Amino acid sequence: MSITKAIFPVAGLGTRFLPATKAQPKEMLPVVDKPLIQYAVEEAYDAGIREMIFVTGRHKRPIEDHFDTAFELEYELEHAGKMDLLKTVQSIKPADMECVFVRQPKSLGLGHAVLCGERLVRGEPFAVLLADDLMVGTTPILKQMVAQFDELQGSILAVQEVPAEHTKRYGIVAGTPVSERVMAISKIVEKPAPEAAPSRLGVAGRYILTPAVFEQIRSQPRGVGNEIQLTDGIAGLLNLEKVFAYQYEGKRYDCGSKEGFLEANVELALKHHQVGDWFRSYLKQLKLD
Ligand code: G1P
Repeated sequence: MSITKAIFPVAGLGTRFLPATKAQPKEMLPVVDKPLIQYAVEEAYDAGIREMIFVTGRHKRPIEDHFDTAFELEYELEHAGKMDLLKTVQSIKPADMECVFVRQPKSLGLGHAVLCGERLVRGEPFAVLLADDLMVGTTPILKQMVAQFDELQGSILAVQEVPAEHTKRYGIVAGTPVSERVMAISKIVEKPAPEAAPSRLGVAGRYILTPAVFEQIRSQPRGVGNEIQLTDGIAGLLNLEKVFAYQYEGKRYDCGSKEGFLEANVELALKHHQVGDWFRSYLKQLKLD
Protein backbone atom coordinates (compact mmCIF):
# COMPACT_ATOMS: atom_id res chain seq x y z
CA MET A 1 0.00 0.00 0.00
CA SER A 2 1.35 3.46 -0.82
CA ILE A 3 0.97 6.71 1.12
CA THR A 4 -1.35 9.16 -0.64
CA LYS A 5 -2.53 11.39 2.23
CA ALA A 6 -0.85 13.70 4.71
CA ILE A 7 -2.22 15.45 7.78
CA PHE A 8 -0.83 18.89 8.68
CA PRO A 9 -1.88 19.90 12.19
CA VAL A 10 -1.93 23.71 11.93
CA ALA A 11 -4.35 24.79 14.64
CA GLY A 12 -1.75 25.81 17.26
CA LEU A 13 -1.66 29.37 18.59
CA GLY A 14 2.05 30.04 18.08
CA THR A 15 2.42 32.04 21.27
CA ARG A 16 6.21 31.68 21.17
CA PHE A 17 6.28 34.04 18.20
CA LEU A 18 4.07 36.80 19.54
CA PRO A 19 3.64 39.55 18.52
CA ALA A 20 4.31 38.24 14.96
CA THR A 21 1.58 35.62 15.33
CA LYS A 22 -1.12 37.82 16.84
CA ALA A 23 -3.08 38.09 13.58
CA GLN A 24 -1.33 35.55 11.35
CA PRO A 25 -0.76 31.80 11.70
CA LYS A 26 2.74 30.76 12.78
CA GLU A 27 2.80 28.35 9.83
CA MET A 28 2.74 31.39 7.51
CA LEU A 29 5.98 32.84 8.92
CA PRO A 30 8.42 32.93 6.02
CA VAL A 31 11.84 31.32 5.97
CA VAL A 32 13.54 33.58 3.43
CA ASP A 33 10.61 33.88 1.01
CA LYS A 34 8.36 30.87 1.60
CA PRO A 35 5.99 30.20 4.50
CA LEU A 36 6.84 27.27 6.77
CA ILE A 37 3.71 25.36 5.74
CA GLN A 38 4.72 25.47 2.09
CA TYR A 39 8.03 23.76 2.85
CA ALA A 40 6.13 20.94 4.58
CA VAL A 41 3.55 20.62 1.78
CA GLU A 42 6.32 20.52 -0.85
CA GLU A 43 8.07 17.80 1.12
CA ALA A 44 4.88 15.72 1.15
CA TYR A 45 4.33 16.33 -2.58
CA ASP A 46 7.92 15.24 -3.31
CA ALA A 47 7.17 12.04 -1.40
CA GLY A 48 4.34 11.28 -3.87
CA ILE A 49 1.49 12.49 -1.65
CA ARG A 50 -1.29 14.35 -3.43
CA GLU A 51 -4.02 14.72 -0.81
CA MET A 52 -3.14 17.33 1.82
CA ILE A 53 -5.36 17.44 4.91
CA PHE A 54 -4.99 20.59 7.01
CA VAL A 55 -6.33 20.51 10.54
CA THR A 56 -6.96 24.19 11.15
CA GLY A 57 -8.46 26.43 13.79
CA ARG A 58 -9.66 29.99 14.18
CA HIS A 59 -7.48 32.62 12.46
CA LYS A 60 -6.03 30.11 10.01
CA ARG A 61 -7.74 31.46 6.87
CA PRO A 62 -4.41 32.70 5.39
CA ILE A 63 -3.33 29.04 5.07
CA GLU A 64 -6.47 28.23 3.06
CA ASP A 65 -5.92 31.30 0.90
CA HIS A 66 -2.28 30.40 0.33
CA PHE A 67 -3.25 27.07 -1.24
CA ASP A 68 -6.14 28.52 -3.24
CA THR A 69 -6.20 30.33 -6.59
CA ALA A 70 -5.43 34.05 -6.25
CA PHE A 71 -7.39 35.18 -9.31
CA GLU A 72 -6.72 38.94 -9.12
CA LEU A 73 -3.05 38.51 -8.35
CA GLU A 74 -2.57 36.03 -11.19
CA TYR A 75 -4.50 38.27 -13.59
CA GLU A 76 -2.35 41.27 -12.72
CA LEU A 77 0.94 39.38 -12.92
CA GLU A 78 -0.04 37.99 -16.32
CA HIS A 79 -1.00 41.41 -17.67
CA ALA A 80 2.20 42.95 -16.33
CA GLY A 81 4.14 40.21 -18.14
CA LYS A 82 5.65 38.99 -14.88
CA MET A 83 5.58 35.39 -15.98
CA ASP A 84 8.21 34.13 -13.53
CA LEU A 85 6.24 35.41 -10.58
CA LEU A 86 3.04 34.01 -12.08
CA LYS A 87 4.69 30.60 -12.29
CA THR A 88 5.87 30.90 -8.68
CA VAL A 89 2.37 31.71 -7.49
CA GLN A 90 0.72 28.98 -9.55
CA SER A 91 3.21 26.31 -8.48
CA ILE A 92 2.11 26.56 -4.83
CA LYS A 93 -0.74 24.20 -5.63
CA PRO A 94 0.02 21.94 -8.59
CA ALA A 95 -3.07 20.83 -10.54
CA ASP A 96 -2.86 17.27 -9.26
CA MET A 97 -2.74 18.29 -5.60
CA GLU A 98 -5.88 18.33 -3.50
CA CYS A 99 -6.21 20.38 -0.31
CA VAL A 100 -8.84 19.59 2.29
CA PHE A 101 -9.47 21.60 5.44
CA VAL A 102 -10.98 20.38 8.65
CA ARG A 103 -11.35 22.31 11.89
CA GLN A 104 -10.04 21.33 15.28
CA PRO A 105 -12.70 22.93 17.46
CA LYS A 106 -10.61 22.96 20.66
CA SER A 107 -6.86 22.94 21.36
CA LEU A 108 -6.78 19.52 22.99
CA GLY A 109 -3.34 18.45 21.76
CA LEU A 110 -1.52 16.92 18.80
CA GLY A 111 -3.21 13.53 19.19
CA HIS A 112 -6.61 15.22 19.06
CA ALA A 113 -5.58 17.21 15.97
CA VAL A 114 -4.63 13.98 14.18
CA LEU A 115 -7.96 12.43 15.23
CA CYS A 116 -9.73 15.32 13.46
CA GLY A 117 -8.34 13.96 10.18
CA GLU A 118 -9.55 10.40 10.77
CA ARG A 119 -12.55 10.39 8.43
CA LEU A 120 -10.55 12.00 5.61
CA VAL A 121 -7.81 9.38 5.86
CA ARG A 122 -10.40 6.69 5.02
CA GLY A 123 -8.66 3.77 6.71
CA GLU A 124 -5.34 4.07 4.86
CA PRO A 125 -1.84 4.54 6.23
CA PHE A 126 -1.01 8.26 6.18
CA ALA A 127 1.73 10.79 6.92
CA VAL A 128 1.76 13.53 9.56
CA LEU A 129 3.98 16.56 9.07
CA LEU A 130 4.53 19.26 11.69
CA ALA A 131 5.35 22.45 9.80
CA ASP A 132 7.30 23.82 12.78
CA ASP A 133 9.98 21.30 11.95
CA LEU A 134 11.58 22.41 8.71
CA MET A 135 13.41 19.36 7.37
CA VAL A 136 16.09 19.57 4.70
CA GLY A 137 17.76 16.59 3.03
CA THR A 138 19.32 15.77 -0.33
CA THR A 139 16.43 13.33 -0.56
CA PRO A 140 13.44 14.94 1.17
CA ILE A 141 12.97 13.36 4.63
CA LEU A 142 9.39 12.13 4.05
CA LYS A 143 10.45 10.60 0.73
CA GLN A 144 13.14 8.64 2.62
CA MET A 145 10.44 7.47 5.04
CA VAL A 146 8.02 6.44 2.28
CA ALA A 147 10.82 4.30 0.79
CA GLN A 148 11.25 2.65 4.20
CA PHE A 149 7.48 2.14 4.47
CA ASP A 150 7.46 0.32 1.13
CA GLU A 151 9.75 -2.27 2.73
CA LEU A 152 8.56 -2.34 6.34
CA GLN A 153 4.78 -1.85 5.82
CA GLY A 154 4.43 -0.46 9.34
CA SER A 155 4.30 2.87 11.15
CA ILE A 156 7.56 4.84 11.01
CA LEU A 157 8.68 7.86 13.06
CA ALA A 158 11.56 10.13 12.05
CA VAL A 159 14.11 10.32 14.87
CA GLN A 160 17.39 12.03 15.63
CA GLU A 161 19.79 12.07 18.54
CA VAL A 162 19.12 14.98 20.90
CA PRO A 163 21.21 16.37 23.79
CA ALA A 164 20.29 14.86 27.18
CA GLU A 165 19.06 18.23 28.44
CA HIS A 166 16.56 18.42 25.55
CA THR A 167 14.66 15.13 26.09
CA LYS A 168 11.89 17.21 27.70
CA ARG A 169 11.09 18.73 24.29
CA TYR A 170 10.45 15.47 22.40
CA GLY A 171 8.80 12.11 22.22
CA ILE A 172 11.71 9.78 23.09
CA VAL A 173 11.97 6.21 21.74
CA ALA A 174 13.94 3.08 22.59
CA GLY A 175 14.11 -0.28 20.80
CA THR A 176 16.22 -2.78 18.89
CA PRO A 177 18.12 -2.11 15.65
CA VAL A 178 16.71 -3.61 12.43
CA SER A 179 19.21 -2.04 10.03
CA GLU A 180 21.70 0.82 10.01
CA ARG A 181 19.07 3.55 10.30
CA VAL A 182 15.98 1.61 11.41
CA MET A 183 14.97 0.44 14.86
CA ALA A 184 11.91 -1.52 16.02
CA ILE A 185 10.49 0.60 18.84
CA SER A 186 9.79 -1.07 22.19
CA LYS A 187 9.06 2.08 24.16
CA ILE A 188 7.99 5.68 23.51
CA VAL A 189 7.54 8.41 26.13
CA GLU A 190 6.38 12.00 25.64
CA LYS A 191 8.78 14.67 26.89
CA PRO A 192 10.54 12.76 29.69
CA ALA A 193 13.06 14.39 32.05
CA PRO A 194 16.63 13.32 31.14
CA GLU A 195 16.80 10.84 34.03
CA ALA A 196 13.55 9.16 32.92
CA ALA A 197 14.33 9.14 29.17
CA PRO A 198 14.73 5.61 27.73
CA SER A 199 17.30 6.91 25.21
CA ARG A 200 18.34 10.12 23.52
CA LEU A 201 16.49 9.45 20.28
CA GLY A 202 13.92 12.19 19.86
CA VAL A 203 10.98 12.15 17.44
CA ALA A 204 11.07 14.85 14.76
CA GLY A 205 7.82 16.12 13.28
CA ARG A 206 7.44 13.46 10.55
CA TYR A 207 5.36 10.32 10.97
CA ILE A 208 3.93 7.59 8.79
CA LEU A 209 1.12 5.91 10.71
CA THR A 210 -1.28 3.05 10.19
CA PRO A 211 -4.98 3.86 10.79
CA ALA A 212 -5.00 1.61 13.90
CA VAL A 213 -3.43 4.57 15.70
CA PHE A 214 -6.76 6.45 15.80
CA GLU A 215 -8.42 3.99 18.18
CA GLN A 216 -5.29 4.04 20.33
CA ILE A 217 -5.27 7.84 20.55
CA ARG A 218 -8.93 7.74 21.54
CA SER A 219 -8.40 5.17 24.27
CA GLN A 220 -5.52 6.90 26.07
CA PRO A 221 -6.06 9.12 29.09
CA ARG A 222 -4.89 12.75 28.88
CA GLY A 223 -1.10 12.96 28.84
CA VAL A 224 1.64 15.59 29.30
CA GLY A 225 0.19 19.10 29.71
CA ASN A 226 -3.28 17.50 30.15
CA GLU A 227 -3.36 17.10 26.35
CA ILE A 228 -4.38 14.22 24.10
CA GLN A 229 -0.91 13.23 22.93
CA LEU A 230 -0.03 11.54 19.64
CA THR A 231 2.94 9.91 21.41
CA ASP A 232 0.58 8.15 23.85
CA GLY A 233 -1.50 6.81 20.96
CA ILE A 234 1.67 5.48 19.34
CA ALA A 235 2.62 3.86 22.69
CA GLY A 236 -0.73 2.04 22.54
CA LEU A 237 -0.08 1.01 18.94
CA LEU A 238 3.14 -0.75 20.07
CA ASN A 239 0.99 -3.43 21.74
CA LEU A 240 -0.71 -4.24 18.43
CA GLU A 241 1.79 -3.66 15.63
CA LYS A 242 5.45 -3.10 14.94
CA VAL A 243 6.38 0.57 14.93
CA PHE A 244 9.74 1.69 13.57
CA ALA A 245 12.06 4.61 14.21
CA TYR A 246 14.05 5.90 11.25
CA GLN A 247 17.17 8.02 11.66
CA TYR A 248 16.73 10.34 8.73
CA GLU A 249 19.53 11.73 6.57
CA GLY A 250 19.39 15.49 6.68
CA LYS A 251 18.86 18.40 9.00
CA ARG A 252 15.95 19.59 11.08
CA TYR A 253 15.37 23.22 12.02
CA ASP A 254 13.13 23.66 15.03
CA CYS A 255 11.18 26.63 13.70
CA GLY A 256 8.92 26.47 16.75
CA SER A 257 11.76 28.24 18.55
CA LYS A 258 13.28 31.61 17.69
CA GLU A 259 16.79 30.11 17.61
CA GLY A 260 15.85 27.35 15.15
CA PHE A 261 13.84 29.78 13.03
CA LEU A 262 16.84 32.13 12.78
CA GLU A 263 19.19 29.25 11.92
CA ALA A 264 16.83 28.15 9.15
CA ASN A 265 16.65 31.67 7.74
CA VAL A 266 20.42 32.12 7.72
CA GLU A 267 21.25 28.69 6.29
CA LEU A 268 18.52 28.69 3.66
CA ALA A 269 19.32 32.29 2.68
CA LEU A 270 22.94 31.22 2.08
CA LYS A 271 21.68 28.55 -0.35
CA HIS A 272 19.04 30.75 -2.00
CA HIS A 273 19.40 31.07 -5.78
CA GLN A 274 18.70 34.82 -5.84
CA VAL A 275 20.21 36.20 -2.63
CA GLY A 276 22.65 33.45 -1.54
CA ASP A 277 25.87 34.98 -2.92
CA TRP A 278 24.98 38.45 -1.78
CA PHE A 279 24.06 37.19 1.72
CA ARG A 280 27.37 35.34 2.06
CA SER A 281 29.42 38.46 1.34
CA TYR A 282 27.13 40.54 3.51
CA LEU A 283 27.74 38.19 6.48
CA LYS A 284 31.49 38.18 5.81
CA GLN A 285 31.81 41.94 6.01
CA LEU A 286 29.54 42.19 9.05
CA LYS A 287 31.66 43.15 12.06
CA LEU A 288 30.34 41.28 15.06
CA ASP A 289 31.57 42.19 18.58
C1 G1P B 1 5.48 17.38 19.25
C2 G1P B 1 5.34 15.95 19.77
C3 G1P B 1 6.70 15.40 20.21
C4 G1P B 1 7.69 15.52 19.04
C5 G1P B 1 7.77 16.98 18.56
C6 G1P B 1 8.64 17.13 17.32
O1 G1P B 1 5.80 18.22 20.34
O2 G1P B 1 4.41 15.91 20.84
O3 G1P B 1 6.59 14.06 20.59
O4 G1P B 1 8.96 15.05 19.45
O5 G1P B 1 6.46 17.48 18.24
O6 G1P B 1 8.79 18.46 16.97
P1 G1P B 1 5.68 19.84 20.25
O7 G1P B 1 6.93 20.31 19.58
O8 G1P B 1 4.45 20.12 19.46
O9 G1P B 1 5.59 20.29 21.67
